[in-house]
Amino acid sequence: MVHNIIIRRLILLLNIGLVVCLGLFQVSVASVVSTGDFNKDFFVTWSPSHVINSADGRSRSLKLDQQSGAGIASNQMFLFGQVDMQIKLVPGYSAGTVLAYYLTSDQPNRDEIDFEFLGNVTGQPYIIQTNIYADGFDNREERIYLWFDPTKDFHTYSILWNLHQIVFMVDKIPIRVYKNHADKGVPYPRWQPMSVKLTLWNGDSWATRGGRDKIDWTKAPFIASLTNYKLDACVNWRGNPKFCRSSSPTNWWNQYSFSTLSPSHRKWLRWVRKYHMIYDYCNDSQRFHNHLPKECSLPKY
Ligand SMILES: *[C@@H]1O[C@H](CO)[C@@H](O)[C@H](O)[C@H]1NC(C)=O
Repeated sequence: MVHNIIIRRLILLLNIGLVVCLGLFQVSVASVVSTGDFNKDFFVTWSPSHVINSADGRSRSLKLDQQSGAGIASNQMFLFGQVDMQIKLVPGYSAGTVLAYYLTSDQPNRDEIDFEFLGNVTGQPYIIQTNIYADGFDNREERIYLWFDPTKDFHTYSILWNLHQIVFMVDKIPIRVYKNHADKGVPYPRWQPMSVKLTLWNGDSWATRGGRDKIDWTKAPFIASLTNYKLDACVNWRGNPKFCRSSSPTNWWNQYSFSTLSPSHRKWLRWVRKYHMIYDYCNDSQRFHNHLPKECSLPKY
């Protein structure tokens, strides 16, 4: 009898131990705070000869010349989290160049969260264009001017992505929010894991003043620099999204306080939209023949 009880207690203890171990294992596998070493977390997708590495792997540059542009992608795919990347954009004459920094599912019914940096002639401002693809459809562009020269120093560009909202940030200041209105029939990226990609390419058919300013190849090579990134996101472990959707302590981005903007963030976003915004697809009724997408009549943030 006494033996029985002791054995039962032992089994119980073992079970608890097992659950704790599995829990730890799952957490350590599924959620990643990156190493900050490009050699460990990224691979070259396009033109190795146009990707320049620092010896310690902490910095990378992408080069565009008449031969080629360049691209890199994260080794892992993620479902929700936050990605920060410090970027110094192509200095001087950069008209026609586009640096894209984005999350993408690379599926036919593509989900994508895009930052696109549109270069300009010397002394004229860069534009940041943001866009969202959900279930293969985009046409959700917004454009802003920055309040600093993005070619002088590194600045941090972030994407927060959770079940409630997508927030684009520049030096922690939100410049755009795309809320999850899936319950009202608005597409929202929430099923497909995405990888992090960066590409530098020739976009001079459209990028600068609608394609009027072309790339000046006498100014090549064009170089954009990357450093100090952070991938604090949920690795889509064995293709099972359940863990990434849960609000476990490691999935901090799923917690309630990240489901909406804080009051101070809200204030900053209003400031950006008031003084720096140059285009919002939701104000372009001509383009949509007076049938603006559904989300345009719902709360933005
Ligand atoms: C480039 O500069 C011109 C002139 O200031 C401006 O109209 C335009 O929006 C700028 N950016 C791009 C990408 O065209």
